[in-house]
Amino acid sequence: MKKNNTDKVFSKKLISNFSSSLSQDKRLYKEDIELSIAYSKALAKINILNPKEQRSIEKALKNIFKEIKNKKFEWRPELEDIHMNIESRLHDLVGPYAGKIHTGKSRNDQIATIERMYVKNSILDLFSKIETLQKEIVLKAESHLDFVMPSYTHLQRAQPILLSHQLMAYYEMLQRDKARLLNCYEISDELILGSGAVAGSFYKLDRNFIAKELNFKKINSNSIDGVSDRDFIIEFLSSIAISMMHLSRISEEFIIWSSEEFEFIELSDDVVTTSSMMPQKRNPDFLELIRGKFGGILGNFISLLVTMKSLPFSYNRDMQEDKKPLLDSVDEFSNSLVNMTQIIKKSKFNKDKLKNATDGNILATDIADLLSLKGMPFREAHIKVSNLTKKLKKQGKVISDLNSKELNEKLDVDFNLKIDLFKSINSRKLKGGTSKVQVKKEIITAKKTLKL
Ligand code: ARG
Repeated sequence: MKKNNTDKVFSKKLISNFSSSLSQDKRLYKEDIELSIAYSKALAKINILNPKEQRSIEKALKNIFKEIKNKKFEWRPELEDIHMNIESRLHDLVGPYAGKIHTGKSRNDQIATIERMYVKNSILDLFSKIETLQKEIVLKAESHLDFVMPSYTHLQRAQPILLSHQLMAYYEMLQRDKARLLNCYEISDELILGSGAVAGSFYKLDRNFIAKELNFKKINSNSIDGVSDRDFIIEFLSSIAISMMHLSRISEEFIIWSSEEFEFIELSDDVVTTSSMMPQKRNPDFLELIRGKFGGILGNFISLLVTMKSLPFSYNRDMQEDKKPLLDSVDEFSNSLVNMTQIIKKSKFNKDKLKNATDGNILATDIADLLSLKGMPFREAHIKVSNLTKKLKKQGKVISDLNSKELNEKLDVDFNLKIDLFKSINSRKLKGGTSKVQVKKEIITAKKTLKL
């Protein structure tokens, strides 16, 4: 039978490229080599390797590390993955006893272990990047304590607040993101190596020793679960997605604030772009990109979740597809954090514009509150103030257009009611409120937490 085109392109090379995970997992070389060194020591403890063999294997692995780091390593995609590439090079360097390194070990427990090592390392790095971002937020909050602005609900002006109170809201949500990451660290902190391919190890390996060498807090209790489990990555990707959603919301807010309609904030030149056609434009591209990257990051989470759904126990090759979403989410989230930190650090807030935006009916709730303090049921006070704003609207006016005398006349009450922007803000003194005293307290607490 004549070969068709599909047959022709289905060359050996194509098949090996298809099955290779090297383009992704070569980034895990550090973890893979650390694992092999620890494993060689464990094999020496049970006399599979003699001390001399162990030493030369360790030395060769360290050389391989340098070769890869210095980009001198010759990658061979036909060898499928990082594990095979390193082991093959070990053969070149030490000869046939390199083959002993795979005694009792499977790539199934190996990949499950080095991915956990990678996740743990990434969490530490991301955690510190979140803290760096938080530090900029807290510093901005501290230096803008006398900036007032409207708060918004439904993107409608609601009640006056301190800008610092708004900024500290970002700090709080990032605190939760860190807690989620620490939880991921905890569940990843389990050694799988020693589980073998699925049924556990035939050899009397000292798993506690390996755990100590590789800095794992505990060892897994079920070999089948150990090599099957990718929950720790799924949780990590979901935590990244939640945190990225937070960055996206901050981005959205800053995009709105930097628009000509608001002008609350001026973004620095290095995070905006100009239009090739419209000379006046300053586009908030970096913020839009952070907002936009959420899509891919959510996709990564869903992608792995779907890959794992319905897989029979234990290891299945489908699981090799976990690396792309994992590495991509870590990279994009990490870059977004760094960019967001710079954006916040370099943004300038426009005090007048923020304050002017509190003109209008923003003290309506305060009037109702004051009326209810004088004994009027709040519902009644609410209707009274609502009617006032409606009446004013017909005259093209708002509450802030009225002086104290006019306000009292319009309200027709037998006591003198006084409203004031700063009084409104500073009366919210309970924990969690926007008063200066309270916000200052939260800033002090945050600075202590961040060791700032
Ligand atoms: N490259 C594989 C992965 O990333 C390693 C494990 C391969 N195991 C196997 N039995 N083929 O999942």
